Amino acid sequence: MSRSPKETEEVGMKLARELPKGSVLILEGEMGSGKTVFVRGVVSGMGGDPSEVVSPTYLGAIPYETPLGCVLHADLYRRQGFPEEKVKWLEAFLEEEPTLLVVEWGKAPPFPCWEVHFTDKGGMERGIKIIRHE
Ligand SMILES: Nc1ncnc2c1ncn2[C@@H]1O[C@H](COP(=O)(O)OP(=O)(O)OP(=O)(O)O)[C@@H](O)[C@H]1O
Ligand SMILES: [Mg+2]
Repeated sequence: MSRSPKETEEVGMKLARELPKGSVLILEGEMGSGKTVFVRGVVSGMGGDPSEVVSPTYLGAIPYETPLGCVLHADLYRRQGFPEEKVKWLEAFLEEEPTLLVVEWGKAPPFPCWEVHFTDKGGMERGIKIIRHE
């Protein structure tokens, strides 16, 4: 449970430090549940500039360069296509060999990844559940 945007950022920072290079992070949660706030934490956990982080909705995928490598932030929710096509997009993003691929999408792809679910509990409370898929 997070009780402030700062706490959500800290969860992102901590996870970013634990993840091996090449990890895929899938973020799921309704509008305003804290996904973008969390990605700011991920980028600052890697020594990058969190103020660069915006919603990738209309841009496809945004690369953030950090001292520890590139965080590629993509949004597959609002893209047209079947899940199979979206998995192809995801694989194409991986071909760019980001240090970390962060994808906003409600589905875990059929390969190893970390899934992070955000739930708006009202006020400043957000549930954050992290699931590792081997
Ligand atoms: N505990 C919390 N964790 C994260 N954000 C919080 C928290 N409490 C309040 N907020 C507020 O909730 C909002 C979360 O917005 P954010 O842009 O991160 O959501 P999002 O999941 O990315 O939404 P969208 O799907 O529209 O992009 C911010 O305005 C933030 O200040
Ligand atoms: Mg967002």
